Order: sequence, then C-alpha cells, then structure tokens
Amino acid sequence: MMRRDARLLILGNWKMHGLSADLAEARAIDSIAADHPALTVGLAPPFTLLLRMVGQTEHLSIGGQTCHDAVQGAYTGQISAAMLAEGGADFVILGHSECRVSPDDNGPRLSAKVQAAQEAGLGIVLCVGESAAQHDAGEAEEAVVAQLAASLPPGDEAAPQLVIAYEPVWAIGAGSVPSPEAVEGVHCAIRSWLAGRYGQAGSAVAILYGGSVNAENVAALLAIEAVDGVLVGGASLSAESFGAIIRAAARG
Ligand code: PGA
Repeated sequence: MMRRDARLLILGNWKMHGLSADLAEARAIDSIAADHPALTVGLAPPFTLLLRMVGQTEHLSIGGQTCHDAVQGAYTGQISAAMLAEGGADFVILGHSECRVSPDDNGPRLSAKVQAAQEAGLGIVLCVGESAAQHDAGEAEEAVVAQLAASLPPGDEAAPQLVIAYEPVWAIGAGSVPSPEAVEGVHCAIRSWLAGRYGQAGSAVAILYGGSVNAENVAALLAIEAVDGVLVGGASLSAESFGAIIRAAARG
C-alpha cells in the first residue's frame, strides 16, 4: 500500500491538535479522498481520536504519531505498536523532529520502535531531516543518511513496511521549502542509501517530503521525480486546506 511504485502518498500529521468536533474535518477529508482513488491519503490524529477516526472514515489510512518499543509494560503514558495496530491504525510516524529532541526517540531506542512497529505489521513513516545549522553548513545529505543508519534496526524485515519522510527541521512550520534541486538531492541520497542497505526492497521504499507543504507548493514538490508523496502538518488540519492539497496532487 505504501510502496513507491503504487500511488502518491498524501499524509497529514495532526500533531497535538484535534477534539471531537474536528472529526467532521476528517470525515470531509475522507469524502475528498474517495473522489481521488489514485492517491493514498492518510491522517495521523492524536491517540484520543484514533479509534473514532478509524470508525468514521473509509478511504483514509489512519496512523499513530509515535509508539513505545515494548509490546506492553509499566510505561505510564505510553502506547505500543500492537495497541495502535489493534485500534485499526495502518501506520505510525516515528522519529519526527519534534520527538527526536528526546533521547527516547533517537539512536537505539528509535530503531527499537521501528522494529516494534514492523513486528506489529504497521507501515512505518520514519522522519529524517537536517537542522538549520547542518543546512547552513551544506551537510544536509550527510546528516540525513546518518539519521537513517542510526534509526533502522538490524536485518531486512522492516524494508517492505518502510516509508521515509524527509523533513528539513528548518522548513517545518516555517512557510518556506527548500529548492526543488535541494529536495531532489537529499531524496536521491536517501534512495541510494536504502538501495545499498536493502537492495531491491530499498529501491521500492516511498520517500515523502515534509515541511511547510501547502496547496500552492505541493504540485511543484510532487513534480520532482524522486518525491513519492508529502507529509503535511498544519495544512492537514482542515478539509479546506488538506482538500486543496489532495486536489492539487491529483491534478499533478
Ligand atoms: P508543517 O509540518 O507542514 O506544519 O510544516 C510538517 C511536519 O512537521 O510533519
């Protein structure tokens, strides 16, 4: 479902937004997705809305925004990949830069989460992206490849469930996106690393762009050959703005 040769992926991350009333937005987004079956459209709501969103939508992939690496245990406030899967989630976002500020979402802990999500059968949307300082130093590709290497578990099992979201930290919520050449350069570096690591299965991993995606810039981003979809934050919160992105993506 989330392979690069399948369909463009248009995913929304609601972050810590959304109360019951906002399920109406998800239902409206679901109707728009139904009109565009050539796209895979998904939303990652807060945990409190996840089960209801699964129940109230038909055409959306629904995901969690993170998970713990253990299946269960004495971890107050945490949620496991198995719990997300049982609740009807199709995927989980891992390694978002807003989570990577914690040591629990970096290095071995993050790769253990990727493995837990793989074992639970979830799609894994693994976020990577350089900081503003790394961007300014011209080190985006090295930074992103180092994050990939540190975030993926040993073995090849995760590859078929993997999606990579390239999200330059400096572009998130900033209103500006990198140049098409810069996005293409990083996406190609990610793809060649994945192909080296996983062979054919790595070449089939979808690579999304995220960071200030909106209805005005999405067509240009998706026109980049190496971009297989987008991960949208703020502009995914309403059917008006996310619908405009879905329609623009479908027009190509
Ligand atoms: P943004 O967020 O679209 O609001 O920039 C993207 C993200 O953090 O996934």
